[in-house]
Parts: sequence; structure tokens; C-alpha cells
Amino acid sequence: MTDIVVLGSTNMDLVAYVEKAPQRGETVTGREFRTIPGGKGANQAIAAARAGGAVSMIGAVGNDAFGSRLRSCLETSGVDTGHLRTTEGPSGTAHIVVDDEGGNAIVVVPGANGTVDHLLPGDESLIASAGSLLLQLEIPLAAVVAGARAARAHGVRTILTPAPARPLPPDLLDATDLLLPNEHEAAALTGLTDPRQAATALLERVPEVVVTLGAAGSLYAARGAEPLTVPAPRVTAVDSTGAGDTFAGALAVALGEGRPVRAALEWAAAAASLSVQRPGASASMPHRSEIEARYAS
Ligand code: RIB
Ligand code: NA
Repeated sequence: MTDIVVLGSTNMDLVAYVEKAPQRGETVTGREFRTIPGGKGANQAIAAARAGGAVSMIGAVGNDAFGSRLRSCLETSGVDTGHLRTTEGPSGTAHIVVDDEGGNAIVVVPGANGTVDHLLPGDESLIASAGSLLLQLEIPLAAVVAGARAARAHGVRTILTPAPARPLPPDLLDATDLLLPNEHEAAALTGLTDPRQAATALLERVPEVVVTLGAAGSLYAARGAEPLTVPAPRVTAVDSTGAGDTFAGALAVALGEGRPVRAALEWAAAAASLSVQRPGASASMPHRSEIEARYAS
């Protein structure tokens, strides 16, 4: 049984924790270095599985040491990796600097993710078996479009996180049910810095939009309804890497369980708020019992 299929990237995150990120030409001394499994696709898969979903991941890891660790991290979190291929060459890596305010700057080197440019036999029937398909933009667009189209053809809900920000082909938006940008991505897609205006503009392209607003929570907009703002729990962030992915994975689970939109957004915000209080992307993602406890409080 599969509730959620994630089509996307896996990266090993190479994270340096520093007081303040260096400027160009500057060298700073970091406090700590960690390697933590990440990648927007794998993060969303792990977040959804820990939140209680039955999750399968389509993507690729390299045939290096990072690749086996990325695969086993997914498996340990309960994600089915039967459609995760291993390719010749390096795994994707993300080179991340996290500062003392919990903010980050990231360089992604795609590695194996760059080979995920089409669906393999069997991927489409896996997608067809799911309730929803989670997509992001860290693999070649051709595969993202193919996945979204396959989902649409089988009546599977598509949830697209348009990150990292880049122009979206019209046929991808045509096959998107719920677009889930953060405020910067919403502005990049529309040229509008006000999230409410950006969300309204995006509704001309997709039926539902959720703009994540970091500590300010999220904004939901759907055609023919008043936009809804849902706050996030107040917490002190130590590392916000993967918070948006945690939100996406938890939201997919909550919507898949039939929770009303407001409750689903609150539940996803509870999950994301837990993740920012701990270092790392996948390493910081909460389990269902923790989300329920925070949601109830
Ligand atoms: O969204 C967070 C992720 O973006 C990190 O885990 C890193 O791998 C980058 O891809
Ligand atoms: Na975190």
C-alpha cells in the first residue's frame, strides 16, 4: 500500500555550522561539521513517512559511500526504496553553511540526481497506486513533468514545491493540484513580493496554493475562497534546513488522511516547527507522536 510517492532528489548534506556565513573572499572558522542525509525529495519522503504515511521514493543515488548511507537512511525511516536507482558516479551533495540564527546558504551539486530525467518502467504504475505525488525541482524538469502528467492521468493529487526557484513550464503547472512555494519562490514565480497577491496570481495557473511564511506560518488560497492565514508555533530556530520539506511531507499526510485544510496546515506547521529546533534536514524531522503532541499543545 502506498499513500504517497515522492519523485525527487537525494543529497548528502555537508553542513558547516558557523556564527556568521562568510562573504565573498572571506574565510571564517566554523564550529562544527556534519554529514546529514538531505535532498528535497528524500527530505519530503522521510518527513511523510515519520508523520505516518506509507511512502515510496523515486530517484537516484550514486554508487559511492554517500549513496548507500542515503538509501539506508530512507529505509530506516520507513520509506520504500524499490524505485530508487543506484547510478555510476557520485551521489548528489549539498554544501551548506548554517549560521547562529539558524539561517542557511546552500550549493547543490546534483550528481546522481541529474540522471533522473525520465520515468522508468514501473514508476508510472507506482505513481498510479498513490493518493498523492510530491514533486520538487532538484531533478531534471523532464522527469518532474512526466511524473506530474502520470499522476494527473491516474487522478493522483500532485503537490509541487517549486524549489530551488526557477521558471516553470506551463505543462507542469497544468498538471499541478497544489503549489507549495515559500514566500521567495512565490515572488520569483510572480514578480509579486506580497504573498497574498502572489498566491492570488498563482491561482490563475493552479487550483490551490500554499505559501509557507517561515516563522509566520502559511497562507492558503483556493479558487473562489477567501485566503486563509495559519500561524506557526513560536520556537527558537537552530537550523531551518529542510523545514519546508518537513512541512510538505506532513501536509501530504494530513491531507491524505482527510483532515480539513486549516487543521492540516496547523499539523504541518507543528512538524516544521519541531524540525527547526534540531540540526540537520532529515535528522531533525519529527515522528508522528511528536507532531501530535505539539499540535495538541
Ligand atoms: O530543502 C533542503 C534541502 O535542500 C537540503 O537537505 C539540501 O540537500 C538541499 O537540497
Ligand atoms: Na532542522
